[in-house]
Amino acid sequence: MMETTSQAPLPERHDFAFSDRDFRMISDLANGRYGLFLQPSKKALVHSRLAKRLRALNLGSFQEYCDLLARPEGNDEQPHLLSALTTNVTHFFREVHHFEYLRDTIAPILIAKAKNGHAVRLWSSACSTGQEAYSMAAALVAADPAVHQHDIKVLATDIDPKVIKIAREGVYPSEQIAAIPAQWQSRLTASGPAGCGKIAMDDRLKSLISFGELNLVDAWPMQRKFDVIFCRNAAIYFDKTTQARLWQRFASALADDGYLMIGHSERLSGPSQGAFKNIGITTYQLQRNEGDKK
Ligand SMILES: C[S@@+](CC[C@H](N)C(=O)[O-])C[C@H]1O[C@@H](n2cnc3c(N)ncnc32)[C@H](O)[C@@H]1O
Repeated sequence: MMETTSQAPLPERHDFAFSDRDFRMISDLANGRYGLFLQPSKKALVHSRLAKRLRALNLGSFQEYCDLLARPEGNDEQPHLLSALTTNVTHFFREVHHFEYLRDTIAPILIAKAKNGHAVRLWSSACSTGQEAYSMAAALVAADPAVHQHDIKVLATDIDPKVIKIAREGVYPSEQIAAIPAQWQSRLTASGPAGCGKIAMDDRLKSLISFGELNLVDAWPMQRKFDVIFCRNAAIYFDKTTQARLWQRFASALADDGYLMIGHSERLSGPSQGAFKNIGITTYQLQRNEGDKK
């Protein structure tokens, strides 16, 4: 993580002492705002990543950094803090079994539901730069090329405005597309090359998706229930209480028999566990008790 430079060493203040108290201050802030759990073993990593932010902002200490975050003008810094503490790593058809299951098993049920005049909603709830949402939309189109004719939409949200901007543009390096199995490639990129080694997502695919910013730990404005929720490789950063609460909120946000896909190293926990039936690898279906149905 150290930067190499041929210039003279930076002055002492740029080394930024990082005491256990400073680490606690950052962890408490990250926990309170985003539900993140920073293990003490991550102290050195947090120090090196955030030292870059202190340098960029020309601040002298971690206390000054926390003071800035507490003020309204520190709002713009929040995405940088979050990016430094988590990762946006993602790729198309990551954990491909979820998209195969969506195409082969879930989509036919949802398309029948839509054909009966019902709205169908899917949610990529920590979508990063958007590849997950485009993969979901591609799975729907693979199941039925006429999917656009129905009221079927994918909502894609992330806390980080930078990644949402990229997701909304839907233009990716060609190598990312080249790495996808051929059968899926043609579903993504009917629009053709965008030039400069980049490829744009198919406009019909884009029309199925709405992108927006959302902190999973805050209130959710969406009114309508979801038929499918993907929440993959984000909850792993949350503390246990926040994770359990999140699974419970997903249970409440899902329609009867709705599906929840989680990341390969994540596990359901807490009171909502009994509400979900495991139906495949990190794939769950809500089973609401008869008494809960209204
Ligand atoms: C590793 S990426 C996962 C992307 C995608 N779901 C996948 O599995 O490939 C984790 C994403 O979670 C987002 N994230 C972290 N904390 C969040 C929060 N409290 N609310 C919403 N998104 C969050 C990060 O911004 C990041 O884009």
